[in-house]
Amino acid sequence: MLVALLFVSRTGVVGVVTSDEKASLLSFMMSVYSDPEHALQNWNSSGVHVCEWTGITCNEGRSAVMQLVLTGRSLGGTISPALSGLSSLKVLDLSKNYFEGHIPAELGALLMLQELSLAWNLLEGTIPLGFGKLRSLIYVDMGNNRLSGDIPVEFFCNGSSSLQYVDLSNNSFTGGIPLKDDCEMKDLRYLLLWSNRLTGRIPPALANSTRMEWLDLELNLLNGRLPSHIVSRMPNLQFLYLSYNQFTAEDGNTNLETFFDALSNSSALRELELGANNLSGKIPPVISRLPKSLVQINLAENLLYGSIPPQISNLINLTLLNLSSNLLNGTIPTELCQVGRLERVYLSNNLLSGEIPSALGDLPHLGLLDLSQNRLSGAIPDSFANLSQLRRLLLFGNQLSGKIPPSLGKCVNLEILDLSYNRISGEIPGEVAGLGSLKINLNLSHNDLGGNLPLELSKMDMVLAVDLSSNSLSGAIPSQLGSCIALEYLNLSGNSLEGSEARLAAFSRGDMEDDENPEPNELKIPKITYDELTQATEGFSLSNLIGSGQFGHVYKGVLHDNTRIAVKVLDSDSASGIPQSFKRECQILRRTRHRNLVRIITICSRPDFKALIFPLMSMGSLERYLYPCQGSAQKLDLSQLVSICNDVAEAVAYLHHHSPVRVVHCDLKPSNILLDDDMKALVTDFGIAKLIKGDEESAATTTALDSVSFSSTDGLLRGSVGYIAPEYGMGKRASTQGDVYSFGVLLLEIITGIRPTDPIFGHWSSLHEWVKSHYPHKIDTIVQRAVNSYCSGTTSATPECASAGVCHNVIVEMIELGLICTQFSPSLRPSMLDVTQEMGRLRQYLSTELVLPYK
Ligand SMILES: *[C@@H]1O[C@H](CO)[C@@H](O)[C@H](O)[C@H]1NC(C)=O
Ligand SMILES: *[C@@H]1O[C@H](CO)[C@@H](O)[C@H](O)[C@H]1NC(C)=O
Ligand SMILES: *[C@@H]1O[C@H](CO)[C@@H](O)[C@H](O)[C@H]1NC(C)=O
Ligand SMILES: *[C@@H]1O[C@H](CO)[C@@H](O)[C@H](O)[C@H]1NC(C)=O
Ligand SMILES: *[C@@H]1O[C@H](CO)[C@@H](O)[C@H](O)[C@H]1NC(C)=O
Ligand SMILES: *[C@@H]1O[C@H](CO)[C@@H](O)[C@H](O)[C@H]1NC(C)=O
Ligand SMILES: *[C@@H]1O[C@H](CO)[C@@H](O)[C@H](O)[C@H]1NC(C)=O
Ligand SMILES: *[C@@H]1O[C@H](CO)[C@@H](O)[C@H](O)[C@H]1NC(C)=O
Ligand SMILES: *[C@@H]1O[C@H](CO)[C@@H](O)[C@H](O)[C@H]1NC(C)=O
Ligand SMILES: *[C@@H]1O[C@H](CO)[C@@H](O)[C@H](O)[C@H]1NC(C)=O
Ligand SMILES: *[C@@H]1O[C@H](CO)[C@@H](O)[C@H](O)[C@H]1NC(C)=O
Ligand SMILES: *[C@@H]1O[C@H](CO)[C@@H](O)[C@H](O)[C@H]1NC(C)=O
Repeated sequence: MLVALLFVSRTGVVGVVTSDEKASLLSFMMSVYSDPEHALQNWNSSGVHVCEWTGITCNEGRSAVMQLVLTGRSLGGTISPALSGLSSLKVLDLSKNYFEGHIPAELGALLMLQELSLAWNLLEGTIPLGFGKLRSLIYVDMGNNRLSGDIPVEFFCNGSSSLQYVDLSNNSFTGGIPLKDDCEMKDLRYLLLWSNRLTGRIPPALANSTRMEWLDLELNLLNGRLPSHIVSRMPNLQFLYLSYNQFTAEDGNTNLETFFDALSNSSALRELELGANNLSGKIPPVISRLPKSLVQINLAENLLYGSIPPQISNLINLTLLNLSSNLLNGTIPTELCQVGRLERVYLSNNLLSGEIPSALGDLPHLGLLDLSQNRLSGAIPDSFANLSQLRRLLLFGNQLSGKIPPSLGKCVNLEILDLSYNRISGEIPGEVAGLGSLKINLNLSHNDLGGNLPLELSKMDMVLAVDLSSNSLSGAIPSQLGSCIALEYLNLSGNSLEGSEARLAAFSRGDMEDDENPEPNELKIPKITYDELTQATEGFSLSNLIGSGQFGHVYKGVLHDNTRIAVKVLDSDSASGIPQSFKRECQILRRTRHRNLVRIITICSRPDFKALIFPLMSMGSLERYLYPCQGSAQKLDLSQLVSICNDVAEAVAYLHHHSPVRVVHCDLKPSNILLDDDMKALVTDFGIAKLIKGDEESAATTTALDSVSFSSTDGLLRGSVGYIAPEYGMGKRASTQGDVYSFGVLLLEIITGIRPTDPIFGHWSSLHEWVKSHYPHKIDTIVQRAVNSYCSGTTSATPECASAGVCHNVIVEMIELGLICTQFSPSLRPSMLDVTQEMGRLRQYLSTELVLPYK
């Protein structure tokens, strides 16, 4: 809902910036806390004119402050009432900071103010009553704060109103929408009040806002009839969001006709959201009078009954149709196939009957079809073969019969196929079982499927869950099933399979550290008994404990043959994620081999005890060298660090691009980088690593459907604080670009010697933002510190820099690489292959330019 609007011109009156205005700004500064190197550092410094202070724009004569714009500057503290002294101010934008406390009522004195943005802060309390005096306001954004209380009546209208844009969304405002009958907000184009606790009806006076384009009242407690008489006067309406309220239809909640009619002249309308209200009645045939511009319509979670009118086919531009969770009956109209742009169709959880129209196969862009939980009968149409974009097909909970059409195997983008709880018979076609695209779920359970399990099932190497339970399947369970490496859930119970009592028949996360039948190209992991391990670690004694973490503990030990080992024991009593991480780690270690990846020697697995056994790396982790405590480890020099970074880059590039299974590590950080006797770096810890689809491109491609959230383990935030890519926090899937981000943080950490979690960055900033704020003009301080620390040491292992210039260049290049890797947008980051090439070049450059005394 980001709308960039620039309403305000940048000219003003003539005069002199008074000492009063300067004093106002200084007292504002006093109540702000920020990183001293951040936004306000040139404020009040000698020789800098007030009009040149960061964020300030004066009028042409430099006589008055016209604008104060400090958006996204990581500022905290409170907003000082002293700002009221800036009497000519037209624009005040403090959005996207960490301001807390109340909005000072004194700001009501800024009578010239046209644009006020305080959005995305931590502000509390109410909108001050005195804001009714701000009669020049055009643009107000206070969204995404913690504001509460009633919205003052005069805020919208005190006499007339020049407001064009009002965003108070995502706060806790209560009471009604305060538009009195005599209030005419004639210029209002955007009214965004979603996610508050507003009650009552939509005020009739809103009908005066005939220029409205975007009206969003979603997620409130509003009631009354749908506002037909209001929207009918809004011909420019583009987005109308009324979902998640308690609206009813007209004529005793039976008539939607009036409302649809009222919108018929809004020829720019794109999205109409009425879901999760209390609407009853039929969907009238006049739905066809809704403007043809409509792209999305959502009527889900209401009490609508009767059939779906065929006239819906008039809405030729629809891409999303959501009628789920109503009481709709009758058949699915074939006419739906005339809505040629449809991408997502939700009709689930209704009372629809009859057959699935074969014509649905004619919708070339269909990506999601959810007809689940209805009373549909007949067979699945063959025509679905033509749905080349189909990703999710949900037909569960119907009365479908017949066979699974083998042609479904042509839907090569299918990720979820759920046909469970029907009466489908016949064999599972090999074509369908072989759908390598299935990523998430194949659910054919609770049907009448017979015959053998198709061998092709083993081709589903990305699928997370396969449920074939409660059918009449027979024959043997193919051992190749073990190669569905991503599989977390398999249920074959309730069939007549041979050996179905075997533990393969039903497992969920963690019961499958099954290395009995490894593929020929896999490492077979031998097992070690618990007793042997107890002996090797002297009974897991404290003196052998060398590390602990969220996962459990690491002990050192010695095997009978004198191999020195590290034993990673996973906590058995912690959350259920642990067996999963054990399985993951086994699967990945079994299938990957690289000189810079830690090799697994053996595992020990009992129901109550799981351990992974690695060779002991005597030099410990990189962490020890970056932050030596009491001189416990020598300091590394630049060529060693470059070599270590190069090793790590090669290991990760192998995981991303060359290994038999593509792996995203998800947890790159110094403590997961071990060093052997030759200071070669080895990457370890695959506990939260993620397998991705074979070809990188398709895994990275995003489409409209990626916005559909789906419950899977992917929803979890993965990684360690400080190293996680920002997009993971926004629910994006684990990706190779996320690893590239972590690698970039690692580079910057090594160069600066500062942990990304160091409190000096404050809770809002990060290492890479801090480095970036120095780049390029102030980078020298950081470079010089690194040169001092890595290039001119005195210990025997540290070479003198043959040329400080070489050191300097390499450090600058590493910083630049670190910044490129930590770019906010994942698509702008380089691939690990590029990174490896760059690191290799730096290593080469160092080794030819530097004459190392010990070589
Ligand atoms: C601004 O600078 C003047 C002169 O250097 C100094 O006396 C004053 O304390 C400063 N004010 C603030 C708020 O830093
Ligand atoms: C309404 O505007 C008038 C004149 O601008 C002003 O005097 C009055 O205080 C305002 N009312 C409120 C409640 O702010
Ligand atoms: C609502 O605001 C909170 C901060 O108050 C923010 O964390 C959250 O992301 C916002 N929600 C949406 C949907 O933007
Ligand atoms: C504004 O809306 C009110 C309430 O609907 C109405 O009485 C009034 O006539 C409208 N004013 C104009 C100019 O349309
Ligand atoms: C839509 O426009 C037509 C033609 O101008 C008009 O007759 C009709 O009354 C309008 N409908 C609404 C709901 O305003
Ligand atoms: C919802 O609709 C039903 C039936 O039309 C009605 O009885 C009920 O009062 C309505 N509830 C609300 C909160 O409007
Ligand atoms: C339908 O969508 C297309 C592409 O977005 C657009 O060009 C066209 O104007 C739309 N049709 C109508 C009637 O709005
Ligand atoms: C469609 O409606 C269902 C039921 O309310 C809801 O779960 C789903 O998120 C909706 N989908 C979209 C894209 O609106
Ligand atoms: C649909 O439901 C209505 C009652 O809501 C009923 O009168 C009608 O016969 C039903 N139609 C079908 C095809 O079941
Ligand atoms: C797929 O589409 C083609 C061309 O539109 C059509 O000839 C064919 O019959 C369709 N296939 C099925 C199985 O419906
Ligand atoms: C289908 O299988 C998956 C995985 O077992 C399960 O989560 C889902 O609930 C099943 N679907 C139905 C409709 O039972
Ligand atoms: C496997 O499926 C059966 C029947 O659908 C169900 O009762 C059982 O709980 C499932 N097993 C697991 C481990 O989910």
